[in-house]
Amino acid sequence: MKGNDKLTAALCGSNGEHTTNRRSQVVVGSFLIVIFVLLLTACASRAQPAGTAWGVGAFDSNGERIYFTATSESGSPITYSGAPSSRGWMMMGGQLACVSCHGPSGKGGEHSMGMMQVMDAKDIRWSVLEGEFDAEKFRLAVVNGEDPDGTQLNSDMPRWNISDNDLTDLIIFLKTLP
Ligand code: HEC
Repeated sequence: MKGNDKLTAALCGSNGEHTTNRRSQVVVGSFLIVIFVLLLTACASRAQPAGTAWGVGAFDSNGERIYFTATSESGSPITYSGAPSSRGWMMMGGQLACVSCHGPSGKGGEHSMGMMQVMDAKDIRWSVLEGEFDAEKFRLAVVNGEDPDGTQLNSDMPRWNISDNDLTDLIIFLKTLP
């Protein structure tokens, strides 16, 4: 018995101080986690923009902001016509931006549209487009839905009312996508 007590004392600290310390560490630790979570929630709710899941304040450039939110630093509105008619799609948050279909990486991909329809949004990283597109062809595709090969892009790709300056900024951003 005595030997066991000694062993316990040696392992745990002779006067129980360790246990107390550890408990207060746990208390302080949980407290910090709670604060951290509260901060995260606060930031997340502040970053909610109208329409898309990305905020307008967090971007390195105007082009990046346009890509993620379809709003321009210049304040000129970026609107569109067309876009898929699927109800589920429209319900995904109202306003579309390039990211909604071409994805955060710009690589595009397939979206299930319900009723066994699939929308295939193309890869629009500039490294992929540049073989076929220049700034003017890009403008024609984005604004008029004209593909460089002379065909019309299908109506899943909205037609955008966007200024030339904003298009230039958008291209600058697409060039940064790896
Ligand atoms: C609602 C979905 C959707 C949104 C939002 C969208 N696109 Fe598209 N985009 C498409 C689809 C689908 C295609 C392919 C159309 C086709 O194959 O005919 C496409 C094609 C393109 C193409 C032609 C690519 C090629 O290789 O021919 C460009 C350029 C493009 N989109 C740019 C943009 C830009 C810039 C934005 C934002 C301003 C944007 N898109 C927003 C769905 C979308």
